[in-house]
Amino acid sequence: MSNADCPNRFRVRPAEPQDCPDILRLIKELAAYENMPEAVKLTEEDLLRDGFGPRPFFQCLVAEVMQDEQKAGPNIVGFAMYYYTYDPWVGKLLYLEDFYVMDDFRGWGIGTELLKILSQIAIDSNCGCMHFLVVVWNKPSIEYYMRRGASDLSTEEGWHLFKFDKEHLVRMAAGE
Ligand code: ACO
Repeated sequence: MSNADCPNRFRVRPAEPQDCPDILRLIKELAAYENMPEAVKLTEEDLLRDGFGPRPFFQCLVAEVMQDEQKAGPNIVGFAMYYYTYDPWVGKLLYLEDFYVMDDFRGWGIGTELLKILSQIAIDSNCGCMHFLVVVWNKPSIEYYMRRGASDLSTEEGWHLFKFDKEHLVRMAAGE
């Protein structure tokens, strides 16, 4: 059943500072789903500072279920963390960093609603496209995006994601 069938089951809204504990919980659940639970070093304080301070580095939508749908557990059951980047070929783009709905609430249309609102935000802010990374073994999620028209830049255009870790940044910063 989707929210279109039953419009009062959940709502999606912009995250507020008091949502940081729930956002961190969901970030950890997604990291565990991606088999990297220990990779999350971030704290609630980091999220509060980086998302809700004078110069936010990210934005977030949260999906909240109505009280009677969730007797004992948390109300916030899904989220989408995003920010804007800039592509010198096409200009502004929306980068979807994390996208997650708790297992018990999948198939309700929460993900579809999050993507709908993200698409509206992208269009309203003149973004040419939305980028995101998906680990190669996450077939259900890849199929989910592909069904909605996503293209795979790694196979179609050969792009690979690289990183300099902190150790190398320190070395380069020191001119080594
Ligand atoms: N569980 C899952 N899917 C179901 C279920 C169910 N019980 N029942 C039906 N479905 C089908 C729906 O029919 C729908 O099919 P469609 O794609 O043809 O429309 C689809 O599965 C689910 O659609 P929604 O309800 O809109 O999406 P949902 O709220 O389940 O969220 C999401 C989708 C976020 C991908 C969720 O499955 C999830 O959190 N997966 C695990 C984490 C993950 O892979 N996240 C993305 C990582 S990539 C990134 O973060 C950029």
